Amino acid sequence: MKLRKKIIAGNWKMNKTVGDAQELASAVKLELAECREVDVVLCPPFTALKAVGEIIDNTSIKLGAQNMHWEPDGAYTGEISASMLRDLYCHYVILGHSERRTYFGETDAIVNHKVKAALDSNLLPIVCVGETLEEREAGRTQEVIQTQVEGSLSGLAAELKQVIVAYEPIWAIGTGRTATPEMAQEAHAFIRRILTGLSDAETAETVRIQYGGSMKPGNAEELLSQPDIDGGLIGGAALDARSFVEIVRHGM
Ligand code: PGA
Repeated sequence: MKLRKKIIAGNWKMNKTVGDAQELASAVKLELAECREVDVVLCPPFTALKAVGEIIDNTSIKLGAQNMHWEPDGAYTGEISASMLRDLYCHYVILGHSERRTYFGETDAIVNHKVKAALDSNLLPIVCVGETLEEREAGRTQEVIQTQVEGSLSGLAAELKQVIVAYEPIWAIGTGRTATPEMAQEAHAFIRRILTGLSDAETAETVRIQYGGSMKPGNAEELLSQPDIDGGLIGGAALDARSFVEIVRHGM
């Protein structure tokens, strides 16, 4: 048996009304309802979670959200809690996506609160990290990744087994520029070494590390064949059922 089952998640971001989301989820379901080789996750916007959840009910496709608040309830206008996501049968939640960090001021400390709240509610967090182009060009990639991974996952040890890390170089997100498989592999292996430091080698070997950033049918196979790349977090290409399904097939 493979040590780590690949996990491919579609991050639909702020796209798709309920009707469009139902259409996309139905098209994915048609092809992947019985998929057992890869964990397939759909992350629609909050407004479409219920409708998509109903479509993929009783299939092997799982539901994920794109964000949540760390408090269980209270006066936080506009926010959504982990238990609300569980209530809609979410299994996963994306946390600390670079767009949340950049546009909404999320820090590693905030992400860390959210990761703990998600785990407390039995949601599996997909924790995103990655450097900017400026940081890469300045030779600071490892330092930035290390700070983000350690900050976002501090205070967890055995629970790390429940966490999925997504390495998403910011310069590759939505730009059509992908990290080369070697570049991505190097970052993933580095992340696994940091995880070893946070827990132990056995735990770190079980953690799945997804690559994200312009992954598409044409480059998925090469990326997914790297030893430390355990899946993908797909943005743009997940908005089209055919390309998303094709990427998943490359992970089988
Ligand atoms: P992209 O987005 O596939 O459109 O680059 C990935 C992501 O932001 O998760």
